[in-house]
Amino acid sequence: MKRDIVIYPDKRLKQHSKPVERFDAELHRLLDDMYDTMVEGNGVGLAAIQIAVPLRILIINVPVETDSEDPRVQQPKENTLEVINPVILEADGKTRYQEGCLSVPGYFEEVERFKKIKIEYQNRHGEKIILEDDDFLAIALQHEMDHLDGRLFIEKLSILKRKKFEKEWKKRQKKNL
Ligand code: CO
Repeated sequence: MKRDIVIYPDKRLKQHSKPVERFDAELHRLLDDMYDTMVEGNGVGLAAIQIAVPLRILIINVPVETDSEDPRVQQPKENTLEVINPVILEADGKTRYQEGCLSVPGYFEEVERFKKIKIEYQNRHGEKIILEDDDFLAIALQHEMDHLDGRLFIEKLSILKRKKFEKEWKKRQKKNL
């Protein structure tokens, strides 16, 4: 079931999320709802805090190549990477990539990240897994892990770009009222 996405500058996005302790049916329902919310919002990743649940959970689903316009075909549920209680073990190099965020809809900007990261996390059954990547997944993981500590990608912009963003964002919010 799709849930409402928390939109910037809602203060809940600044919360530090707490570790997951129970790997039960409630967690599984939350993960399933996160998938529905992400896919229907046309996102490639989502952290639990973005649906107002302050737990250290994120999901990522990189779209596959297909002619279908159905988001559930572009991002099959079984491809979803479910990452719980992640910890960075290693981080190396630098890269820049244009990022966006379902909590900052319609805004995209380049930010700097580590090129390569190695993390340890738990899956929905509580099993520990080690994952290493130096491509798009590494960037997406860093973006989503920032959410768990209350950080957004716009906080990584230069001061000038940040000011420009705030101005545009306020203007847009007035329009939507
Ligand atoms: Co985001």
